[in-house]
Amino acid sequence: MKLTDEEQQVLDGAEGKARAHAMDLLVRYGKALGAETLVNTNNVCGGFVGALPGRRDLLPQISDGEKRDMDAVYSLLNLDSDVRLEIPKTKAMTYRLIDAMDPDKAEVQGVSAQTRQIVKDVNRFCQKIGVNTCNTCTPYQIGNVPVFGEHCAWMESSAVVYINSVLGARSNVEGAHSASAAALVGKIPYWGYHTPEKRRGTHRVVVEYEVDSMLDWGLMGYWVGERIKTEVPVLTGISTTPTPEKLKHFGAAAASSGGIEMYHIVGVTPEARDTADAFGGNPQQDALVFGRRELEEAYGYFSTASDPNVDFVVIGCPHASLVQVKQVAELLDGKRLSPGTDLWVFTPKALKSMADRIGYTEKIEKAGGHVMSDSCAALSKVSPDNVRVAATDSAKQAHYLPATMKFPTWLGSTGQCVEAALTGRWSGGLS
Ligand code: F3S
Repeated sequence: MKLTDEEQQVLDGAEGKARAHAMDLLVRYGKALGAETLVNTNNVCGGFVGALPGRRDLLPQISDGEKRDMDAVYSLLNLDSDVRLEIPKTKAMTYRLIDAMDPDKAEVQGVSAQTRQIVKDVNRFCQKIGVNTCNTCTPYQIGNVPVFGEHCAWMESSAVVYINSVLGARSNVEGAHSASAAALVGKIPYWGYHTPEKRRGTHRVVVEYEVDSMLDWGLMGYWVGERIKTEVPVLTGISTTPTPEKLKHFGAAAASSGGIEMYHIVGVTPEARDTADAFGGNPQQDALVFGRRELEEAYGYFSTASDPNVDFVVIGCPHASLVQVKQVAELLDGKRLSPGTDLWVFTPKALKSMADRIGYTEKIEKAGGHVMSDSCAALSKVSPDNVRVAATDSAKQAHYLPATMKFPTWLGSTGQCVEAALTGRWSGGLS
């Protein structure tokens, strides 16, 4: 790999052992991927120091309470180093994606005292090294909106597919190690979706059904991901401009069923002014057609639940926008949830504070629901006790809940999910 003088100096230790280790990690990673150079980044989003449940469980084993040595934890979990490194401040503007719980709702979420302490320690450490603890999977909803062409190093597939496709920013789906190393040196290997070639469309999808609701968009995304896997779909035939929420759900679903990191919608997304622009000279494969039959086929993938008694409703995967929180608040206004059913709405903390101020939170909580931040059911593994059947308006959450939480899960529109929370019964489905 060709390094600049400055990169070589960092690799040689001019800026200390931790940055040298981070640079070495990125160089090895880049070489394995065939990258020839690194590229500067000042926008890193990652899961720092054991944010995810699998890694969080490791924390007590390698450290303990007051004696917790967060430099050693970061070295091992984030930089893959058995040797303890003294972690300096991040060089790139860096954001944390998701946490293990909402500290304001820890009791409702049933989080243990040990985990609460770990979360506190980890957040304090993140702040010390300059990681912005935004704790949301949708940084682009709260002000981290990369500009067209900006090189980023983001984890979280639903966020990467959004910024690549909708904003024209450039990122691959990074892992915890590469994002953490990028945070320390402000570099990431130049390969994949950083390059113009990889961003070109590969498969045309002719949309012949009028995809309208957020559910339609999520199902279409799931179907496209199933079919196209890790390539770049180009959608034609979309006649109306989708909202950010619909695009968010489309991408999140496509990244869950497949590994879509970039898509084009002709006439909508910025690198697809027309079909030729979207393909950028790539040969066009045979077109797939998405119609009503394919929508029904996609809905058929979500058949984990059969019991109509619903005891847990999850809204906000990816984290809900203010528009979505408002919708739930209006649907619940003046009503009460069924006594045996919980409803949790996940939204970024910054939007929660707006929802508090505007009164949406009050409407939801008066009905018996909760508005939560920093976490989510499937990834943070938090839920009410003894859930038997869940419902959600998110194809991504419906994909993960049966696997991570073992909940049979219904998928429907936001209105159908709120209705299930009010009645305790599922009566939704495709309209
Ligand atoms: Fe976000 Fe959790 Fe969904 S991290 S994308 S709400 S699975």
